[in-house]
Amino acid sequence: MRSVVIMAGGSGKRLWPLSRRDTPKQLLPLLGEQSLLRVAFDRVRQAVPDERVFVCTGAEWVDVVAKELPELPVANILGEPSGRDSLNAVAWPAAVLAHEDPDAVVAMVTADHLIEPVDSFVEALLEAFAVAEAEPDALVTFGVPPTSPHTGYGYLHRGEPVPGREDVFTVREFKEKPDAETAAAYLASGEYWWNSGMFVWRAATLLRQLEVLQPDCHRIVTTLAREPGRLEELYPQLPRTSVDYAVMEPVSQGRASGRVLVVKLPISWHDVGGYASLLDRLERDASGNAVRGLSVQVDGRNNLVINDQAEHLVATIGVSDMIIVATRAITLVCPLGESERVKELVAAVTDSD
Ligand code: GDD
Ligand code: MG
Repeated sequence: MRSVVIMAGGSGKRLWPLSRRDTPKQLLPLLGEQSLLRVAFDRVRQAVPDERVFVCTGAEWVDVVAKELPELPVANILGEPSGRDSLNAVAWPAAVLAHEDPDAVVAMVTADHLIEPVDSFVEALLEAFAVAEAEPDALVTFGVPPTSPHTGYGYLHRGEPVPGREDVFTVREFKEKPDAETAAAYLASGEYWWNSGMFVWRAATLLRQLEVLQPDCHRIVTTLAREPGRLEELYPQLPRTSVDYAVMEPVSQGRASGRVLVVKLPISWHDVGGYASLLDRLERDASGNAVRGLSVQVDGRNNLVINDQAEHLVATIGVSDMIIVATRAITLVCPLGESERVKELVAAVTDSD
């Protein structure tokens, strides 16, 4: 049976103070009216029925997720007692689904990406399901043609076309977050695609890889599938690591039996990680300012101003290349070039957040 798991963990620290503990990034209407999670849900329900969609998120967000997605059976929201990074966000649902159906095929998708057009995404997703069903050892990824030497993404070295399938290839190597020089060489070669961060596999196939590569994770998630009452006790013991480093890189290097395949994702795709990538997606005025909410700029260029307060005006004179975010409790001012450092600020104020 086919299922989709939306990974909706992580609070989106680089988008603080819009994202805070009770309003994680996925639940924000960052662009347009709907939250990223709602948009992600509406995307995948074109591929599987609502009751086959699951959301893996922090336990503290289960209620808000249920409210945001009323069509989703509440039992399909898997609440993690604490975030243990993406390996566990894929491993735990895989174990739960394999426990109920040994032939379960699972798509792991993200909630924090902008994807257009949706039809092409759904087509690629259905193709990836078909590939995972036909090839029991396959770990299927989605490859996005890169447009820059981004060092925050994984790269897939494209191999041979898979016979009988259009736009499906073997992967020679999966390289997670290369350094700048390597990323530039990858881009120039034309042989690499970005890893979209979404995957499709048989749940049992992933578990087999975990048994070899991450035995502690394997032991804990398979125990949890049988004994869900031990979640609070066992989940915090899971090793904190990402699926990219823990499974995809080593499998692509032949350190476990599976093989990595890639389906081309012919879409415009953006990981809305921080303010710089958000600014790229927003419309700008003649001075290059992107403004949401009440704000006036005099002699200012290239600013991102977000003001979510209806009765509050943000006004600037001679300010350029700045991020200004005003919320009820917090105002952030940060040079555009340093937007990745918002994380540092969050760490510094965590106690008060
Ligand atoms: N439920 C849950 N719990 N989800 C999590 C957790 C967790 O503890 N940690 C991460 N996730 C989810 C995130 O919400 C996101 O959807 C996905 O897992 C990937 O995690 P990120 O932390 O955003 O990873 P990344 O962006 O650094 O890298 C990944 O995505 C890139 C594309 O955006 C990798 O897969 C890269 O290879 C890829 O290029
Ligand atoms: Mg990400």
